[in-house]
Amino acid sequence: MPNAIILGTGSCVPDKVLSNHHFEKVGSNDAWIQQRLGIKERRVVDGQTTSDLAAGAAENALKSAGLLPSDIDLIVLATATPDRPAPATACAVQEKIGATKAVAFDISAVCSGALFALSTGCQYIQSGMYKNVMVIGADTFSNITDWNRRDSVFFGDGAGAIVLTATEEDRGFLKFELHSDGSGKEGFTVPAGGCEIPTTPDTLSQGLHCFQMDGKAVFETATGHVPGTIESVLKQCGLSIGDIHCMLPHQPSIRILEEIARRVNLPWEKVRTNMDRYANTSGGTIPIVLDETWRSETFHPGDHILFAAVGAGWTWGAAIYKC
Ligand SMILES: CC(C)(COP(=O)(O)OP(=O)(O)OC[C@H]1O[C@@H](n2cnc3c(N)ncnc32)[C@H](O)[C@@H]1OP(=O)(O)O)[C@@H](O)C(=O)NCCC(=O)NCCS
Repeated sequence: MPNAIILGTGSCVPDKVLSNHHFEKVGSNDAWIQQRLGIKERRVVDGQTTSDLAAGAAENALKSAGLLPSDIDLIVLATATPDRPAPATACAVQEKIGATKAVAFDISAVCSGALFALSTGCQYIQSGMYKNVMVIGADTFSNITDWNRRDSVFFGDGAGAIVLTATEEDRGFLKFELHSDGSGKEGFTVPAGGCEIPTTPDTLSQGLHCFQMDGKAVFETATGHVPGTIESVLKQCGLSIGDIHCMLPHQPSIRILEEIARRVNLPWEKVRTNMDRYANTSGGTIPIVLDETWRSETFHPGDHILFAAVGAGWTWGAAIYKC
């Protein structure tokens, strides 16, 4: 069975910067946002779509991988903010980057989306069906944010992309462990705009097309479920936490990450974050932080990278990559 390795990475964030001071008018403040969440600023789109950011990230990932668009067999795009309900945003990316040969589809697992998409891409490689897979996480939560509420502080827009390829070498993604629990769907949701509550002037005026979040439930779910999943995936790989070179997690809040790291005994220096600059870019977080880490750090053969995510659904999971 072939293994799936990372051949290249790329990311793309909008130019427009929104600092924490912007949120004073909705009753929040810079000190609270920095202390509780670890966010200093975030990027927001100014006319770009989710597929624009995704295509920018994909083009950068192609360059880093040294591949042409025509080399890509499959595009799997994780997003909760698609350009349109139909067709898939991945198809728009396929057209924008000229990957005419690629099959393209979307995955919806919100903040765990990139991890779920990575596991999907790996399955296609390991089964031998495809050789080169573009995995993208891209979101523009600014489109589903109620800017009159103070929970508008949490998210930013951005996209990251990862080119996976097949190898016979003894390295690559070793194991994924994924979970879902639909009983938690009210903990983070966009209530209207689907067939359950179709769009009406009333739903629009009530702001039901924007996300609603129970912050405490997100915190409890993340810190309650992710540590055990990390321990389980490590065990399945015959590893301990001391074998981990670094963790590239989803970026919900600095306190959640500190608590997860504490519970699994991972030194904080091994946790990579960028939420100070980008906030929570949902599907974008893991591929963006991977791109930054991949380009700025040296990895040696045999180094193990831990991935972990939690998102609406609930959805959560962890994975181990061997360099
Ligand atoms: C949101 C979160 C920081 C709230 O922390 P908490 O300690 O449970 O906060 P509480 O709701 O009890 O509120 C604590 C204080 O902060 C204030 N507060 C809440 N939201 C605020 C905001 N956006 N700006 C400023 N102050 C805020 C509250 O009014 C309260 O003030 P008080 O102590 O004077 O009454 C925490 O639950 C969390 O990190 N949740 C995860 C959220 C997340 O990651 N979301 C991303 C989605 S994946």
